[in-house]
Amino acid sequence: MHRFNQPATRVALGAGVLALALVAQSVPSLQAQSGANVQAAVDAAYAKFKGLKEGKNADYIPALAKVDPNLFGIAVVTADGKVYTAGDIKTEVSIQSISKVFTMAQVIQEQGLDAIEKRIGVDATGARFNSIIAVEGVKVVAGTGAPEMNALVNPGAISATSMVTGGSADAVWAKIIGFHNDAAGRPLTVLQDVYKSESDSNQRNQAIGALMLAYGYIKDNWQQAVDLYTRQCSIGVNAKDLAVMAGTLAFGGKNPVTGKQVMDADKVPGVLAVMATAGLYDDSGKWLYHTGLPAKSGVGGGIIAVSPGKFGIAVISPPLDDAGNSVRAQKAMAEISNALGGNPYAAMARKN
Ligand code: DON
Repeated sequence: MHRFNQPATRVALGAGVLALALVAQSVPSLQAQSGANVQAAVDAAYAKFKGLKEGKNADYIPALAKVDPNLFGIAVVTADGKVYTAGDIKTEVSIQSISKVFTMAQVIQEQGLDAIEKRIGVDATGARFNSIIAVEGVKVVAGTGAPEMNALVNPGAISATSMVTGGSADAVWAKIIGFHNDAAGRPLTVLQDVYKSESDSNQRNQAIGALMLAYGYIKDNWQQAVDLYTRQCSIGVNAKDLAVMAGTLAFGGKNPVTGKQVMDADKVPGVLAVMATAGLYDDSGKWLYHTGLPAKSGVGGGIIAVSPGKFGIAVISPPLDDAGNSVRAQKAMAEISNALGGNPYAAMARKN
């Protein structure tokens, strides 16, 4: 049993695919970056971290423990839709918590920024992603009554899934997978072994779903919300898919490969803000301190990150650290982003 099934404990999750997507845009600081420079940055990070063995696959979802921990792939997508890659960018892993970003984005797209802020909140909890104590201890924002929680921890994410409208579970699912497909630029499918494995072992999320109904965050049918949440976490993605999804957020909601406007540009900053504050859970501050990039991790080993208006990055590598974030993905993404001047807070420090 993985320690993530126990409250107030920390453990290294593990699993390894490194997918890194980086989308350079036609802004002055990145116009100087040639495709060769982007490829060189990707190749250098791949070579530097290929042999890194730190971390451990997640095993509280049994299927994740079986994923090859050596899986390591990087993909970089530029504004012109070109994809720069290193390693394995074809093997799919489950998207896991990265899906929380896109379901939250879909709710924001359909119901507005207020809907997520008022029902779930947009504040970091400072707790683990599946903390029940964080639900019990949630404070409300003075004046608005909005909870101090967010849609990237499990309680908020299950609640966000419950907010997707539709007359039936199938109708809701069609919208969830449709949004993910549009962001990735291809039809994605659920990894059935992961879905079954997580469905058989998600008693903790069921407890969270019931609790969220009890507190009014979920309005009805928490069982459906937990099931659809489990399904969205089991969507299969490769490094390139994640890169394009990151790029869609980097370029104002427009998929840089297909050109499809997936969400309104003026709604994207809200999504990125929650990623910045809570995307890597209780390690979000540390990540932001070193990269400045809004990001989101998943226990399948993927991480996406976004340099708004400049590029999107996604990395997959299954072995995880104690906070549940891929070790190699964090290192490789930081390396590449910093090589390409990706930190938005460092705009005045860039020489290129
Ligand atoms: O609900 C869960 O526990 C998983 N489906 C997702 C957790 C996850 O990916 C946390 N991310 N780092």
